[in-house]
Amino acid sequence: MPGSSSSSSVRPATGRLGIITPGLGAVATTFIAGVESVRRGLSKPVGSLTQMATIRLGKRGENRTPLIKEFVPLADLKDIVFGAWDPIPDDAYTAASKAGVLEKHDLEPIADFLKSIKPMPAVFENKYVTRIKGTNVKTGKTKRDLAEQLRQDIRDFKAKNKLDRVVVVWCASTEIYIKPGPQHATLAQFEKAMEANDEAIAPSMLYAYAAIMEGVPFCNGAPNLAVDIPALIQLANEKGVAISGKDFKTGQTWMKTVIAPGLKARMLGLAGWYSTIILGNRDGEVLDDPASFKTKEESKLSVLHTILQPEKYPELYKGFSHVVRINYYPPRGDNKEGWDNIDIFGWMGYPMQIKVNFLCRDSILAAPIVLDLALFSDLAQRSGMKGVQEWLSFYYKSPMSATPSLAPEHDLFIQQTKLKNTLRELMGEEPVTHVDDQA
Ligand SMILES: NC(=O)c1ccc[n+]([C@@H]2O[C@H](COP(=O)([O-])OP(=O)(O)OC[C@H]3O[C@@H](n4cnc5c(N)ncnc54)[C@H](O)[C@@H]3O)[C@@H](O)[C@H]2O)c1
Repeated sequence: MPGSSSSSSVRPATGRLGIITPGLGAVATTFIAGVESVRRGLSKPVGSLTQMATIRLGKRGENRTPLIKEFVPLADLKDIVFGAWDPIPDDAYTAASKAGVLEKHDLEPIADFLKSIKPMPAVFENKYVTRIKGTNVKTGKTKRDLAEQLRQDIRDFKAKNKLDRVVVVWCASTEIYIKPGPQHATLAQFEKAMEANDEAIAPSMLYAYAAIMEGVPFCNGAPNLAVDIPALIQLANEKGVAISGKDFKTGQTWMKTVIAPGLKARMLGLAGWYSTIILGNRDGEVLDDPASFKTKEESKLSVLHTILQPEKYPELYKGFSHVVRINYYPPRGDNKEGWDNIDIFGWMGYPMQIKVNFLCRDSILAAPIVLDLALFSDLAQRSGMKGVQEWLSFYYKSPMSATPSLAPEHDLFIQQTKLKNTLRELMGEEPVTHVDDQA
């Protein structure tokens, strides 16, 4: 299995784990506040597999279904220390209040804790995210200097907080669309481009480079390339570091990866899928810039083709129309609303429609994903699993593939099977195939 080790000798999760997020906005503060609230017994970690899901082991009749967190050695929530970088200097309390996701009665009891989390100066340039005004920003002669400063931040954070291990999860704004080019092809070209301040090297790539150089797993919650370039995949493999991406799979796309496999499983045809969203948070404002939207659009469009495989099922899926529209509408804040109109056809070609109206809360769906990705990436790192962690595709809209010639898997249920079977294999248990599964 690419990106894995077959050994069941997983280093235990002793000591403290640092989780540093580039970006201390809506998603990151909702994640941090939620973990602290769970630690104080004020909330339940709803939406998190690492905290709530069980895993079946052996045959059905064996009745062995421990919690995932009791089956694999994961860092305990009480051992997590939070850090962040952000060009906006607000502490986590102020940032969470401005984001408007969590209400006062949830923020006040943990206000002191949140106020103690202040972002480190970011590597930030308006060229890559146009709608944000940053004052808490690093300066350096070259992009390589900036990456070195990020490496120093990681080392200092680790020493100051007496951490055993660190994970970096990108929760920063979506950068403008960048096509992979020669600057991203090999490590040597990438390093040369950093030194030449080449504009093909975005800040997210510098964070990813810094993390990998420090032996720290990197997860990419946004659709911008960041770690998804050959040079950094090569570096991660060489340094033995777990990486994954891209773009947290939360609202509408998550629904797509639930419904599309259902259509295909029943061999029902698709004529078209129209998705539109209104949202009013800062992410929505950033995505209002066409260059950032293009990055998001690419990420959202790839899903249906890979699941439905029109090349294998031309009578059912060839040429279906897929339209995605995101509209920035400030009154909605973080409470996004999505409408999907799905034109399907059945027996003898008769048309039918499915309408989905999803009133979701973006950051509420994203926060448990940040937690799971951090804990599972730390597990992968302790298990000697290096490079692209395909088994974490479950969490991403636009999963990275460990083998460039193979398309990534988008079907949520195949992704879930892969995730759980990877955990079973890691601990020396048989994969569950659902064949002959009576005890
Ligand atoms: N909420 C979801 O459901 C969801 C789903 C998928 C992906 N995402 C992605 O997650 C990211 C965060 O979303 P959000 O709602 O928290 O956005 P947000 O705008 O509230 O927060 C993003 C933060 O990143 C900071 N930032 C921008 N460039 C930076 C840089 N170079 N270094 C460090 N910080 C930087 C901004 O100042 C801001 O505080 C976005 O890219 C979004 O597209 C969110």
